[in-house]
Amino acid sequence: MRKSDILGDVSSGKSHFKTFMKILAIETSCDETAIALIEASGGLKAPKFKIVKNLVTSQIEIHRPWGGVVPNLAKREHVKNLPICYRQILNDQFLIPNFQSSSNLKTKSFGPRPISTQGRWASGPSLGRTKLKADLLAVTVGPGLEPALWAGIVFAKQVWQEIKDQNSKIKIIGVNHLEGHLYSFLLQEKTGISNYQLPISKLFPAIALIVSGGHTILLRVDSLTKWKKLGETRDDAVGEAFDKVAKMLGLPYPGGPEIEKAAEKGNPSAIPFPRPMLHSKDYDFSFSGLKTAVLYYIRDHKLKADSFGPRPISTQGRWASGPSLGWTKLRADIAASFQQAAVDVLTAKTARAVREFGAKSILLSGGVAANAALRSALKAQGLKLKVHFLVPPIHFNTDNATMIAAAAYIQHLRKKKYPLRANGTLNL
Ligand code: KG4
Ligand code: ZN
Repeated sequence: MRKSDILGDVSSGKSHFKTFMKILAIETSCDETAIALIEASGGLKAPKFKIVKNLVTSQIEIHRPWGGVVPNLAKREHVKNLPICYRQILNDQFLIPNFQSSSNLKTKSFGPRPISTQGRWASGPSLGRTKLKADLLAVTVGPGLEPALWAGIVFAKQVWQEIKDQNSKIKIIGVNHLEGHLYSFLLQEKTGISNYQLPISKLFPAIALIVSGGHTILLRVDSLTKWKKLGETRDDAVGEAFDKVAKMLGLPYPGGPEIEKAAEKGNPSAIPFPRPMLHSKDYDFSFSGLKTAVLYYIRDHKLKADSFGPRPISTQGRWASGPSLGWTKLRADIAASFQQAAVDVLTAKTARAVREFGAKSILLSGGVAANAALRSALKAQGLKLKVHFLVPPIHFNTDNATMIAAAAYIQHLRKKKYPLRANGTLNL
């Protein structure tokens, strides 16, 4: 998320579906505490979702001073935020008085605190007293930071026990975070009701590109339940490369959105950074060489650029203390050229896979899929290759629990289970 943020709900009070499964999902694999409540329907042939509530609280402000996510801090914040988010869900379901809606929540550096109408901390019910009606409880078990994952798993088990007293049939299911990203293409609209008009079978075989802070994976997807990994990064994930390059450029964490912003003022062809493994015959990626090329470029050019041009003048008529104009210009060119190199490699390999496997669609997901340059490059490839291009709205690219709920629905239908144990290196 770009900033601490809580996404509002789209609850209409009535269900969109005649029969549905109500799923509560919890996601704490990294630095976002997320809980979602959805209604799922349609089965494996035509899965459809209605989002009752989608809460995401970001810890970015807490980790920013450290330039990255600190696992134990993340865990501490999840432990603090989970009951607050869950109570908010209960509040909306049962209209508990003295509890403001999500849009009024003030997000502080330590995560949101619900504020009562009197301006004091809300005194909502204990988790045990009000019980949510849900059929399935889903929680991310990996991959991710293990202390952070455990916070979600322990909390989910506690909630499950409490709901079970009332609804003995409620099941709990561990979910693979990467499957959450993979299935996020099913979440197409802000309203939460998926709007793809095609029968799902017309999308397959598809080529899925998952790009996040920890992964860069290319898959051939034959159906909603069957896929084969074609390739992945051999070193840094592309999101990690964005974050590291941002750091080299003096831009704050998380670097992806910062690079994208800086790149808007730069020239993507100013610097011919390498396109690692662009022509390799496999479908693997490598971003550490590109990152090092940027490092050397900065080392060789920053000083000269920095001494060029005056500093911007502050409103008080004094020199502002920001970066020099020369460096600001060069930094924009570096950001744009780096972004272009990364997008070129990702797009070229995806397009080659589409051709080789006769795919009918491209499915893009993961935090880096929020990047407009990547989205538009793959959209253009889709048009050129005459295949569908599906990417969820931006708030479902970065980590959220709605995608975990969607993956849980598919997992439940195919009777697939992951143990309720944190597994930091869980793969697809
Ligand atoms: O999927 P995600 O939210 O968390 C993981 O599962 O890792 O992805 C986070 C990554 C970070 O590396 C972040 O810098 C990157 O996604 N990211 C972006 C953008 N927004 C987030 N990268 C490039 N452009 C963006 N707009
Ligand atoms: Zn993720």
